[in-house]
Amino acid sequence: DRTVKIAPSILAADFANFGAEIDAVEAQGADWIHVDVMDGHFVPNLSFGPATCAAIRPHIKTVMDVHLMIAPVDPYIDEFAKAGADIITAHVEAGPHIHRTLQAIRAAGAKAGVALNPGTPASAVAHLLDVADMICVMTVNPGFGGQSFIPLEGKVAELRAMIGDRPVHIEVDGGVTPQTAPGLVKAGADVLVAGSAVFKGGSVSDPAPYGENIRAI
Ligand code: DX5
Ligand code: ZN
Repeated sequence: DRTVKIAPSILAADFANFGAEIDAVEAQGADWIHVDVMDGHFVPNLSFGPATCAAIRPHIKTVMDVHLMIAPVDPYIDEFAKAGADIITAHVEAGPHIHRTLQAIRAAGAKAGVALNPGTPASAVAHLLDVADMICVMTVNPGFGGQSFIPLEGKVAELRAMIGDRPVHIEVDGGVTPQTAPGLVKAGADVLVAGSAVFKGGSVSDPAPYGENIRAI
């Protein structure tokens, strides 16, 4: 279903070759590029920050989808917007003022996403649907790639019903594979993040598996 976007996460790419990895995965059919920012505080891992986002921006011809697993968020919004993020997603658990954060993301010129950890109910975003452009449903506990899928199709369906006819994407992030994707799409997801399932078996010098993996999802 080509109305469903596949967003490879560069967390599973070769960190020494982000530019070439992005070129390769876009040539192989990626719809968006998902960029996982981790602070070692909100999540128990560190990845990279706005300087890396700015450096890879020229390689992204599609959509730069920046997933902030950081707290606090607000002091860094302008920096990620200046780095060229098209979408900036903040976690509902990352602070007491997520509504203000989403407004600030839009004011900085990006689309605003709000992410929910697996343990957070759909109702946590019930009053955010007019200030958000995307809800990101985490189907792993954030912090690491390659973890196993937590089945939350029911939460996706609940959110799709809550959204109604608003123009709000539902993205699913974590453990997305050819096995788990169909149920998520059926429940109402329209953006699928996939790290290990896209980058496995390929490389910059042998990128064809990226395309096969994308088409399999
Ligand atoms: C998890 C990240 C995900 C992750 C997905 O903290 O937000 O984007 O990289 O990786 P896979 O697809 O391997 O679960
Ligand atoms: Zn992510």
